[in-house]
Amino acid sequence: MKVVGLVGSIRKDSYNQYVANFIKNRYKEEMNLQFLSIKALPFFDQTIEEDQPTVVKDFKKTIKEADAVLIVTPEYNHSVPGILKNSIDWLSRVDRVMIGKPALIVGASTGLLGTVRCQMHLRQIFASPGIAAKVLPGNEVFIGRVQDKLDENGQLVDQPTIDFLDSVIKTFVKFIQDS
Ligand code: FNR
Repeated sequence: MKVVGLVGSIRKDSYNQYVANFIKNRYKEEMNLQFLSIKALPFFDQTIEEDQPTVVKDFKKTIKEADAVLIVTPEYNHSVPGILKNSIDWLSRVDRVMIGKPALIVGASTGLLGTVRCQMHLRQIFASPGIAAKVLPGNEVFIGRVQDKLDENGQLVDQPTIDFLDSVIKTFVKFIQDS
């Protein structure tokens, strides 16, 4: 099962990237998770949407061929980080490769709420006609105070979070298989 991962932070030592790496390693038997860089994508520009740069074409092709998409993202100013939104805007136009695509949203923040507001917006965005992804209902993975849940090597060590992820990923895999 091929899953594309998009991480909403390009920060060096991003907590969300650590969480994403944890998911990739822990569930490697269940899914082949490959991260796609969103850093190299240009700003969305409708002028060139019909004649997209190669980097955009390749990005969309990889997502089109994937069985599902996993988003792991921080919350910026109570919403979706711009760099992630930019990638979503590319995905929403011309060849709309997200339509019907199973998706799971995970988020980690240093605050208590663990990206609740970002994920609410993301679910709204994913329901828009150009995206229309099949987001796994429920299974809201809000990792608050993430800095207390990782060890010095960036490894997720908080057992309740790990147990919840075990359950969510199991549900997600079945959701993909049934899609
Ligand atoms: C934040 N942070 C943050 N946290 C939160 O819970 N709600 C928020 O609205 C915001 N807003 C916000 C805006 C901007 C511009 C930055 C840089 C940060 C804090 C955020 O949770 C923290 O920096 C995380 O460490 C970011 O995730 P990564 O980069 O570690 O994956």
